[in-house]
Amino acid sequence: MKFLEINDLTKSFGGVQAVNDVSFSVDKGEIVAVIGPNGAGKTTLFNLMTGIYQPTQGSVVFKDTDVTRLTAYQVAQLGIARTFQNLQIFNNMTVLENVMVGRHTKSKTGFLGAVFPLGPVQREEREIVEKSLDNLAMVGLADKALEAANSLPYGQQKMLEIARAVALEPELLLLDEPAAGLNSTETRELVEIIYGLRDRGVTILLVEHDMETVMEITDRLVVLDFGNKLAEGTPYEIQNNQEVIAAYLGEEGLGC
Ligand SMILES: Nc1ncnc2c1ncn2[C@@H]1O[C@H](COP(=O)(O)OP(=O)(O)OP(=O)(O)O)[C@@H](O)[C@H]1O
Ligand SMILES: [Mg+2]
Repeated sequence: MKFLEINDLTKSFGGVQAVNDVSFSVDKGEIVAVIGPNGAGKTTLFNLMTGIYQPTQGSVVFKDTDVTRLTAYQVAQLGIARTFQNLQIFNNMTVLENVMVGRHTKSKTGFLGAVFPLGPVQREEREIVEKSLDNLAMVGLADKALEAANSLPYGQQKMLEIARAVALEPELLLLDEPAAGLNSTETRELVEIIYGLRDRGVTILLVEHDMETVMEITDRLVVLDFGNKLAEGTPYEIQNNQEVIAAYLGEEGLGC
């Protein structure tokens, strides 16, 4: 059984082939990056994997389950969590509540539990608070738990979004440009968080433009260009791939 299989995935928006016949797989425990110039289809790929978009053709198979046509909620329940390129923090909630939202998605008592807060529900609620605090501690935000989420600086809001995704206890975590907008200290913290998650058995697929970080932390990379898979390989193979270098020439280069 393959952990994750992307098969011939295609998505067109009108005349734009955002993702075109892309196939690759990810093994459990790997850290894999999807890279490519702006507009290459990276975020669309994540949206196709998480029930936000339905593909024009192709499939996403997670642990032998075809998740292609599932809703975002169902995909999350199966163990795939994500963060967004554009932050999606609940501004009017505290830092802790933002993470608890992630945990409530998993909660057994769910919505009814929140409406009828009886014995077992109270226990579960307490557990949700404790585990959410653990998730915050993992990203260095435990002492900010009761602050308003929108009072955090940008870098910490990004960490908060990771904590909320991790609260789902995913087996596969998708991170869309986690290092964007972070300073170098925050980027180091991010790398440690990613390694920590990997050590806990979480498989990580990330989209990232920060090539130095990507080449350091990934086991393998998939390169997209104009929706097509241009290459796939180890950091060394990708850094020395002429087609990849050419695709990046119009941009900032591979930068490492
Ligand atoms: N909802 C949409 N409707 C129409 N076109 C879209 C939509 N979403 C994405 N596209 C187009 O699909 C292509 C791929 O976009 P996508 O956001 O996946 O790129 P990306 O690789 O994530 O780029 P970036 O590095 O800038 O985030 C682009 O041409 C984009 O304009
Ligand atoms: Mg994107």
